Amino acid sequence: MTTESITITRPDDWHLHLRDGDVLNSVAPFTAKQFQRAIVMPNLKPAVTTVKQAIDYLDRILAAVEGSDFEPLMTLYLTDNTSAQEIMAAHKSCFIKGVKLYPAGATTNSDEGVTDIRNCDAALEEMQRAGLPLLVHGEVTDSDIDVFDREKVFIDRVLIPTMGRFPELKIVFEHITTADAVDFVQDSGPNIGATVTVHHLMYNRNAMFEGGIRPHNYCLPVLKRESHRQALLRAVASGNAKFFLGTDSAPHARNLKESSCGCAGIFSAHAAIELYTAVFDLIGAIDKLEAFASFYGPDFYGLPRNSGTITLEKSEQTIPESYPMADQSVVPLMAGQTIPWKIRPEHA
Ligand code: DOR
Ligand code: ZN
Repeated sequence: MTTESITITRPDDWHLHLRDGDVLNSVAPFTAKQFQRAIVMPNLKPAVTTVKQAIDYLDRILAAVEGSDFEPLMTLYLTDNTSAQEIMAAHKSCFIKGVKLYPAGATTNSDEGVTDIRNCDAALEEMQRAGLPLLVHGEVTDSDIDVFDREKVFIDRVLIPTMGRFPELKIVFEHITTADAVDFVQDSGPNIGATVTVHHLMYNRNAMFEGGIRPHNYCLPVLKRESHRQALLRAVASGNAKFFLGTDSAPHARNLKESSCGCAGIFSAHAAIELYTAVFDLIGAIDKLEAFASFYGPDFYGLPRNSGTITLEKSEQTIPESYPMADQSVVPLMAGQTIPWKIRPEHA
């Protein structure tokens, strides 16, 4: 019997949290095993706001994946005070590939984030000139806006006016979760792209409340209703080059998730490409997987596509209940469950 399999160009992860210190050392190898490159988020504590901090962080990541050919693509954390000079230096550095907008208070480690996007006009002007993409966490933070509506409201209140002021600025609308975001990205020009996580493709908001509160399915932007998930599935199955892979894998120690005020974030790096493959297979779109995972991201960022390949086999694997992470543990997506695809181990 031959195993069903698919060989694709080595994929990249265009949105990833690697953390720092011992946690970084625990989680980075998962990504390096599957992906050639990843856009690494800067929401450390303190945040990565300068080129100097990004270089130091890059060195720590490279030490954590020693022996692999994984290439971290670094980002700067945009603040109200980010200068045009810092953006210029980031662009010249060649290893910084984007600048991340966290609206202040929107999510994990976002308190140093932007209070009003108009404070960033000088930085955005320089990014537009340099072709350095703005990576947006697209949610407003106003407490009077329902948490499920924050992405849609962000489009109207922040994204559209910003695009009006900087029409040539490259923007990645990160981890989109709604039909509104899908429509918006589809209808925008070629300088607007979007990443789609595997968890937003797999689950609707019921997954947070199945038989009780499910903290490991809590992330931001929060899971939405089924009609939105269907819109995301249609977007990735359409083969539209504006939508590409970004896991938003965001590890938090188990005790910080299983808490009276649990952290937002889903850890998916352990089996990300296998899970995306399972989703694309399930919806009959496996022929669209390679471009989504390996072509559209580098094309958007103006980087070369990878030359190596990986092979995935339709062969079951059981995901562990947890993985060690520093002196704690992390509960992965699909913990304790069986998934239908796995990466073929490389032949010696
Ligand atoms: O769920 C999330 N976790 N969303 C984010 O935007 C940040 C991330 C994190 O850093 O934990
Ligand atoms: Zn993220």
